[in-house]
Amino acid sequence: QIRACIFDLDGVIVDTAVYHYRAWKRLANELGFDFTEEDNEKLKGISRVQSLELILGWGGVEKTPAEKLELATRKNTWYVEMIQAMTPDEILPGAKEFLQEVKAAGLKSALGSASKNSGLILERTGLLPFFDVIIDGNVVSASKPDPEVFLKGAEALQIPPQQCVVFEDALAGVQAARAGGMKVIGIGSPEILGDADVVVSGLSAFRVNMLDAL
Ligand code: G6P
Ligand code: MG
Repeated sequence: QIRACIFDLDGVIVDTAVYHYRAWKRLANELGFDFTEEDNEKLKGISRVQSLELILGWGGVEKTPAEKLELATRKNTWYVEMIQAMTPDEILPGAKEFLQEVKAAGLKSALGSASKNSGLILERTGLLPFFDVIIDGNVVSASKPDPEVFLKGAEALQIPPQQCVVFEDALAGVQAARAGGMKVIGIGSPEILGDADVVVSGLSAFRVNMLDAL
């Protein structure tokens, strides 16, 4: 019996992946190289610092820890400029309706995101009131696929992991939910998220009563 839903943010609730991609691409270009949209898939669900490490590796570029900090900050400044202009129009199709359905069904809901910018995004899109608990990159130390982010969510909601379901668009996130002993709904393509209990194209294709079958 599922009693709580834990949602990833980027790619599940809002389409911020495109902004992350634009900002990282700009940084790579300034460093004299480029990376593909296919490579960009590997950045989904991965923390800012780990994303930078991957990108520098693709470009064959080496930097000192102080330079890395500066580069990550530069990328985040561009990213924040873009998300500051976000509106509720950028909520992914069906996401708000599903959050309303979850509340109406008496289930608890938590955010489980690697992002340190989740507060700003939820505020800009007006979704803050839908979450009982917010666990994000500001309070988590181990990046997905480590289950820390989701286990902290379950703990804060006071619901056992076995009674939680996670909604994720990233492979690392599906793995994190599994490692935490939770059910998981993949949002995206079955080729990438095949390890999830169910894969749907988006929250518009999911209903609370489908949780009964898990
Ligand atoms: C999410 C996104 C990643 C991003 C990470 C950190 O997991 O899917 O692409 O790198 O959050 O986001 P932040 O806003 O803290 O840089
Ligand atoms: Mg995501």
